[in-house]
Amino acid sequence: MKQSISFTLNGKPVTVEVEGNESLLTVIREYLDKTGTKFGCGLGDCGACTVVINNEALRSCMLAVEDVVNKTILTIEGLEENGNLHPLQKAFVEKDALQCGFCTPGMIMNAYGLLLKNPTPTRNEVINGMEENLCRCGSYNRIVEAIQLAGIEMNKNF
Ligand code: FES
Ligand code: FES
Repeated sequence: MKQSISFTLNGKPVTVEVEGNESLLTVIREYLDKTGTKFGCGLGDCGACTVVINNEALRSCMLAVEDVVNKTILTIEGLEENGNLHPLQKAFVEKDALQCGFCTPGMIMNAYGLLLKNPTPTRNEVINGMEENLCRCGSYNRIVEAIQLAGIEMNKNF
């Protein structure tokens, strides 16, 4: 049975009429047209669908939308501010940390969650924090460099 489900998406309140057990990933992409969040495996294994929920990076393919009622969700589309890319987005560009780009939104959102917990991670801490996000293009080294660079840039702002 359809339910009216409300949460905050990228700073704006949204309400959708959906089956409560619909996956959050499907709702974000197909009902709310935020297609930056990618469908990779649909099984919780690749990280392409990662979003940040109440400041924690989570896999949206593994969550039912009824589990995020009244929560605050950030997707890749919500990172830029006033037309300015987020430091993580800039660092991925600067370090050339992508090839096809399919994994990139999930990588960036997982990194965002990581940097919230640990603003200046060591290389090994980045590797450990990102190890369950998969990149078929093998851009891992540049992704790690980008995340460390973003951490430095973000700390300059405080
Ligand atoms: S699509 Fe969600 S983890 Fe792969
Ligand atoms: S850049 Fe292609 S999957 Fe990561």
